[in-house]
Amino acid sequence: AFIKEVSGVRVLENQLKDKLKLDYVLIVPGDSDELDWVKQEMGKACVHYLNGVLHSGQTVAITGGSTMAAVAKMMKPLPEAEHCLFVPARGGLGERVENQANTICAEMANKARGEYRLLYVPDPLSEESYHIITEEPSVREVLDYIKSAEVVIHGIGEALTMAERRKTPQEQIEKIADGHAVGEAFGYYFDQQGEIVHKVRTVGLQLEDLSSSKHVIAVAGGKSKAQAIASYFKPGQSNVLITDEGAAQQLLRDT
Ligand code: BG6
Repeated sequence: AFIKEVSGVRVLENQLKDKLKLDYVLIVPGDSDELDWVKQEMGKACVHYLNGVLHSGQTVAITGGSTMAAVAKMMKPLPEAEHCLFVPARGGLGERVENQANTICAEMANKARGEYRLLYVPDPLSEESYHIITEEPSVREVLDYIKSAEVVIHGIGEALTMAERRKTPQEQIEKIADGHAVGEAFGYYFDQQGEIVHKVRTVGLQLEDLSSSKHVIAVAGGKSKAQAIASYFKPGQSNVLITDEGAAQQLLRDT
């Protein structure tokens, strides 16, 4: 039964890879909407993958979220990647402290025996403060590390779930809902066609920075995120997806 299950997952991986036009897809059995340990399995798979692609002295930029927190929970010393630097991909996006990129970043770095630098920027950020803050030398330094990161690891969320979790102002929630956003990543909200409906103004990695020279790894699972994952990959910003069976089956069936 185990062999059957594993080969079933391998078939799903190939189907999803073709559908989303990705370089690599990894699916863990189960559905993280239903079972919490499935999220940890995705975390473990991500750490394993990271160990294979990251080299010593490189920089990793990460986002926040409970899935990324699971990656941090499973992080361990990476034999192939010593003295790496971990930085948050973007500034504040309105998350609770346990879901913030800064918190997760520090935990990952400590467990991987690497270093970290954090971003302290208030959110929401007005146009005016945005310009002043990015001129601060201490912020500049971290922003330079972020932009030069060789590896980016990020979560993907369901649009309205994320907007509400971040205590987004009502008029922005309406913009997100009226624009029929279904997915969210890096503070960008996408509709089914992958068009950007709304973007949270903050410093750090912008979508256009995800150039092909970087290794971009998305980690997101659960049946409820199928549409969100599909919307994010429409324009195709990342090359690797680590997900679960729940999301994969739903995505292949319904999107
Ligand atoms: C947030 C990221 O912190 O986590 C988002 O900034 C992402 O881009 C979200 O969509 C995912 O959260 P979770 O808890 O579903 O992993």
